[in-house]
Parts: sequence; C-alpha cells; structure tokens
Amino acid sequence: MYYSDELIEEVRMKNDIVDVISGYVRLQKKGSSYFGLCPFHNEKSPSFSVSRQKQMYYCFGCGAGGNVFTFLMEYENLTFVEAVQMLAERAGVELPVMEYSREAKERADLKSILLEINKVAAQYFYVQLKSEQGSVGYTYLKNRGLSDDTIRGFGLGYSNKYSNDLYQYMKSKGYSEEQIRQAGLISTDEKNGVYDKFWNRVMFPIMDVNSRVIGFGGRVMGDAKPKYLNSPETPVFDKSRNLYGLNRARASKKPYFLLCEGYMDVIALHQAGFTNAVASLGTALTPGHASLIKRYVQEVYLTYDSDEAGTRAALRGIPILKAAGISAKVIRMDPYKDPDEFIQNLGAEEFEKRIADARNGFMFSLEILQREYDMDSPEGKTAFFRETARRLTGFEDELERNNYIEAVAKAYRVSPESLQKLVTKTAISDGLAKPVERPKSSVEKMVKKEDGHLTSQKVLLTWMIEDRRLFRTISQYIHPEDFTEELYKTVAELLYKQYAEGELNPAKILNHFTEEEMHREAASLFHTRIRELSTKQEREQALEETILRVKKNSIDVQMRQLDPADIAGLQRLMEEKRKLTDLKKLHISLD
Ligand code: GTP
Ligand code: MN
Repeated sequence: MYYSDELIEEVRMKNDIVDVISGYVRLQKKGSSYFGLCPFHNEKSPSFSVSRQKQMYYCFGCGAGGNVFTFLMEYENLTFVEAVQMLAERAGVELPVMEYSREAKERADLKSILLEINKVAAQYFYVQLKSEQGSVGYTYLKNRGLSDDTIRGFGLGYSNKYSNDLYQYMKSKGYSEEQIRQAGLISTDEKNGVYDKFWNRVMFPIMDVNSRVIGFGGRVMGDAKPKYLNSPETPVFDKSRNLYGLNRARASKKPYFLLCEGYMDVIALHQAGFTNAVASLGTALTPGHASLIKRYVQEVYLTYDSDEAGTRAALRGIPILKAAGISAKVIRMDPYKDPDEFIQNLGAEEFEKRIADARNGFMFSLEILQREYDMDSPEGKTAFFRETARRLTGFEDELERNNYIEAVAKAYRVSPESLQKLVTKTAISDGLAKPVERPKSSVEKMVKKEDGHLTSQKVLLTWMIEDRRLFRTISQYIHPEDFTEELYKTVAELLYKQYAEGELNPAKILNHFTEEEMHREAASLFHTRIRELSTKQEREQALEETILRVKKNSIDVQMRQLDPADIAGLQRLMEEKRKLTDLKKLHISLD
C-alpha cells in the first residue's frame, strides 16, 4: 500500500457514500437506507442499498457490495490506489506524491502492476512502429488509410521480429517474469523457453473506459493465421466488461453508440468523424457489455459485417441490448463487408445516410425471419405471421407492443386488427401466466449457496454493527476465533478491536482489503437479510439460537482439527462444551 491507513481512512470519512453514489445511481430513501437500481446487474426493481450509517452499499440481488472505495473500483474500473486518489481529490485531501521505487512496486497491488506493464509495453510497441524496423507495420497502417493523428490517438504500435525482446525490455524495467506472464505478454515452452506472445504484428492497445491499457490485439500484415491475436483475460482484462473505443466514445455528444465488430472498424469510423463507435473485443456481445453501454447511451446502432456471421451476431445482440433497456437499430453496409471498407469506398457522407436509414432491430429480425418462409404461399405467409405474433407477445409494455403491431401491419400489409387478434390468441395459447425469463447474469450465478453455519455467523456480525447493545451481549459468548472462515475471523477481530476502542466503523474495516472480491465478501457479512421479528421474545429466541449454533459449530470445528496428542486442548474444548450446555439453560435477555 502506498498511503498510510490513517490517510486512507481520512479520505473515506470525507466522502459520504450516499453523496458519492448519488452521482452515479438515482437513490431513494427507504427506512434507514437508500435504494436504487443496481448498476452492476440488470434489474427492474431496486435491490441496491446504500447505508449512510454503515457507509456501505450492498446489492441484495447480485451480492455486489463494499465501501465508497469499492464502489469506484467496480464502477469506474479503478484500482484501490486510484480510487483513493480520486476521492482524495474530490474531498480536497492532499496525498503525498507516490514513490516508484522497486520496493513500492513489489508492495503495490497486482492490478496496478499489470496496468503499468501494459502501459510500458504499449509505449514500447509505439516506439517500435516509428523506428526503422517498424516501417513494415507503419506502411501497413498507412496503406489502410490511417493518418498519423489516428495512429497516435489510438496508440497503435508494432511488435518486431525478435522473439523475446519485449520480455528482455520489461525485465530491464524491473518487472519479474511472473508479473510479465500474468500480464499475458509472454509464453513459455520447452523448446523455445520464454518468448513474446506478440511478434511481427501491428499492435492495437486495448484501453478501458479510463484510457488505461488493459490488453492488446495484434494483427498480421499478410494472410497468415490467426489474423488477430488477442491478449488472454487477466485480472485487468475482462473481455465481457470492456469495449474497444469506449474511452473515446464516452466523450462523444451523440445519444447513441455505433457498435461494430472490429478494431479497424472503430478506428476507421473515428477517423471519419464518427467518434461514437465502439466494438466488442473479438467476442460476442454480453449482458456485461450491455450494462456498460447503458451507462452512457440508451440507443445502439449495430454496424456488424454484412455477411452471414455478422447478421447472426446482430440478431443475437438485439435481445441482449433490449434486456438492458437499450433499443437497437441495424445499419446496412452492403455492398461492402464492414464499416471500414464502406468508408474507404463511399466516404463519411454516405455512411451518414445509412445511419439515417437504419432499421429498427425488431423489424430487422423479421426481415431475416422472412427468408425462412415461402411468402408467396398462403401457408408460408400464415406461418410467418404466427411466429411474428409470438415474438410480438415478447413486448411486455402494452403501448410498445401496440406500436410494433401497427408497424408490422404497415410493413407487411395486413390489417392491424387481425394481427392484434393473432397476437392476443398466441399470448393466451402460450400461457400468459408464464413468467418472463430473465437471462441470469454471471454475477447472479456467482452468488453461491452457502452453508447455514456461515449464514449464522453473518447474522451475528450484521446484528453487532447495527446495534451496540447486541454487540455487548453477543461478545460475551462469541469471540473472533469462533468465526470459522478466515475472512470472517479477520473482520471480527477488527470489529472487536473497534468496539473496545469505542467506535464501530464497518466501512473502515474494508480499507484493509485491496481486492474488490474481498470487499464484496466482507460487505456481505454486514448485510445479511434478517427476517423482521416483531416481539421481543422472538428476537431474544433468535439471538439465543444463533449464538448457540455458532458456538457449537466453532467447538465442533476445533475438535476436528485437534491433534489427538493435545490433551490440554481436549480438556479446554470439553470445558467449552460444558459451558455450552449451561448457556442453553441461561436465558439471554435483550434488556
Ligand atoms: P481487418 O481484416 O483488419 O479489417 O479486420 P476486421 O476489423 O475487419 O476484423 P474481422 O471482421 O475479420 O474480425 C472482427 C474482430 O474479430 C477483430 O477485430 C478481432 O477482434 C476478432 N478477430 C478476427 N480474426 C480473429 C482471429 O483470427 N483470432 C481472434 N482471436 N480474433 C479475431
Ligand atoms: Mn475489416
């Protein structure tokens, strides 16, 4: 860690979490907490809560949670140190200038190091492109119509023909083999030893939304295979949560994005003045991409390749965008293959016209559907309308559905009334009661079923931070060692220490962890959903049962781990067991 604990805590305290998150998410006060739509997964009713008292946020839907630093780490894709810096600036706290000594590098968190390595590598590739040996790469890019400004703006580079010079260079900069490997820049095999992953390719640095290099795409200059080589996923490179060009497109004033398939498409479009172009990173569009896009725009124009594969990709993308609340339109590129070729041949003005002529995503999917039916025969046509009606039932909102029914009726020259009837009939026969299936996002799947003992331990921790009196009662029986999971134990130790010093401050505890995953888990410990218990008697009973359960489990676990020769240990545990029986007889009072 670069900064002292005191300084980090000062920054945290001067940035009220409700104020900070309000800048990103619309929050409404409900009871003692604020609620809003979770920015980390797609949802229609708010399960994202922010507590001023706890200075933490937690999503009951997907389990995202943490303090004000975690929020910025997750939302803005920052490292812990960067989140501290951003909030220090917001609150006017002065931070000491960071030292970049070797020791500091070793102490920094992994993500910061990987970002640094990527940045240094991008600079290296850029210098290579401008050097003599890089002239093949430079000529290639020039021949593809890129200007020097564009090359500089996108930081394009060249990886030369030597098979391990980047590796040597990075080592000379003080990075270890392991770190360079984790950044995805080298590979090893028995025959060649350590070698660079990229060589003799033009290099496209992939940047996140904050213009930090997180990975690379490298293209061969001829017809060799594979045409593009991409960095593997690393702790800083998550292909499903980043888009090529987003760092620039976010600053564009247009209310929509142009979503295309290739790096070259994005670059060509930007160069032609369409600065709102982005592309997914050689992968299909995911719900993660859609929620990322949703932060900036409500509408997307798909400019996928005009071939079969591009059409299929567009058809798959439309419902994913729709699920995130983004409306999709499709741009026709024919007779050219992709936006890059289109612009080269017809120029920006013609592309502007294609944007104006873009077709609505739903209507586009019908046009493609139509190809599967013989529209000249009554049977074929009827079957087509049946399928169309089925798709129309997918619009939950009545007004929207009716607008589409009207549009379809007009486009396919049938009466809106008869189409409306068909839709109603289809809805009934398909079973209206059927709940709409929501695609499970990866975060949701991650919320694993946990065992009951851990839940009980979490319940205790949540009670303890919500009520000092409960803390006193619980801590008479339960000690940090009774928490069986390492993280729980650490958190409990810190919490007990705070209690002894007279301040309960759960958000501060999260400062001890620098990885988002740890924040998320630690935050969940303080946000266990506890059933409302109305009477005092019920509450006392629940408290008693939970304490007993946690204590008993703690003894059981220790018993299992006990060295059979440890007689003293055994005696101590037997004594604990006996006390447990006493505890059962004792009535825990909330007075
Ligand atoms: P150019 O031929 O340079 O114009 O490429 P393009 O941008 O038109 O690319 P294409 O439509 O062939 O592919 C779109 C995107 O898919 C590229 O930008 C890459 O991200 C990815 N891609 C293409 N070919 C490969 C490949 O061989 N391997 C991998 N991993 N990704 C590829
Ligand atoms: Mn192309």
